[in-house]
Amino acid sequence: MKTFDIKTKINFGESALDRLETLESNKILVVADPFVIKSGLIDHVTSRLERAEKKYDIFSDVVPDPPITKISVGVKALVESGADTIVTIGGGSAIDSAKAMREVVAKMPGHEAHIRLIAIPTTSGTGSEVTAFSVVSDPEHGTKIPLVDDSILPDEAILDVDLVKTVPPGITADTGMDVLTHAIEAYVSTENDEFSAALAEKAVEIVGSFLLRSYLDNNDTHARRKMMNASCLAGIAFNHASLGLNHGMAHQLGAKFHIPHGRANAMLLPLVIQFNSDINKHSKSKAEYPNQVRKYATLARLLGLQNFNTITTVRALVNWVEFMMKEMDMPLCVSTMNVCSREEYFAAIPEMAEAAMEDSCTATNPRTPTKEDIMKIYIDLW
Ligand SMILES: NC(=O)c1ccc[n+]([C@@H]2O[C@H](COP(=O)([O-])OP(=O)(O)OC[C@H]3O[C@@H](n4cnc5c(N)ncnc54)[C@H](O)[C@@H]3O)[C@@H](O)[C@H]2O)c1
Ligand SMILES: [Fe+2]
Repeated sequence: MKTFDIKTKINFGESALDRLETLESNKILVVADPFVIKSGLIDHVTSRLERAEKKYDIFSDVVPDPPITKISVGVKALVESGADTIVTIGGGSAIDSAKAMREVVAKMPGHEAHIRLIAIPTTSGTGSEVTAFSVVSDPEHGTKIPLVDDSILPDEAILDVDLVKTVPPGITADTGMDVLTHAIEAYVSTENDEFSAALAEKAVEIVGSFLLRSYLDNNDTHARRKMMNASCLAGIAFNHASLGLNHGMAHQLGAKFHIPHGRANAMLLPLVIQFNSDINKHSKSKAEYPNQVRKYATLARLLGLQNFNTITTVRALVNWVEFMMKEMDMPLCVSTMNVCSREEYFAAIPEMAEAAMEDSCTATNPRTPTKEDIMKIYIDLW
């Protein structure tokens, strides 16, 4: 038996942030991205808490790709605050930090009482506001650990487009391609079904129409709102169907070389689609292709890409992903990024491939990769 539910209540549209004024809470810990504090975006939260005379502390020791050490600092802050509610505002890193902090505290003796978690995204990318995932980095071993448990799900999410207007073009590109990767991976996942498929299809359609518009104009409120919704829809899709090899491999690039999560996903996406479809530059037409080929072709058609047969339609999807990356000035391979030397990168490949095999996202990839397959993709990515 399978079930589908959305535990997280989603507040969106006009005045969604006013929900903060009606929280039933004696003490709140606001877990905020440092940018949110510096830019004054935090006022959207604190002004409402103050209007409702809520007591709160702020914790903002959050960094991209949150490492275990920062989570333990946050755990201490959460315990000391005595908060019964966490309001987290920021990108995926801030939301994931808050989720991991709550998860650890809930397992500490004497702290069993449920702490409510309200997640407010300021990037349109991870969908973390509606997922049971929290991705924590382990710098010592150069890897990322996706924690996955229903207890990690936020109780509520608040979507407000004013919070994503400050996202600069580079981060709009990275996070937007993360949305696309979530939707595509959920769609071809071995756990996909019609419920997650419907959400993933809508997310892909929105990305096709609105990501470039968002990238080109911060003040295109309509496009930014659409991308915010796409991020959330793709989040619900992959929360149900999980992800695949793309994320399994991207996590290692983030952990080892600090390549931003969405950018790592985007760079891998053309290679992983080709691997999963079992097509490469020299493949001849085959009589039969794996099921995911048909699924990729369906998504391609939603993007308005249609070619004379299924396989060339999948090729059109691969070309479209690369086109989007070029339009948004994204790097297509690691060698152009100056994050490491060729020697460092190639030396890390066997270990990254091993970790990608072990990554929980890889388990639902539609084609089971060998370590050699993964190493080849990393090599092609250089
Ligand atoms: N939990 C999940 O389901 C899930 C899914 C995918 C990725 N992740 C994780 O999420 C993290 C990535 O999250 P992300 O892509 O949102 O990036 P992020 O949270 O790391 O933020 C990237 C940068 O954008 C800045 N920023 C955030 N909001 C901004 C705004 N409104 N204006 C200007 N700058 C802003 C941040 O300060 C930071 O410097 C990674 O650790 C990744 O592994 C989690
Ligand atoms: Fe992601």
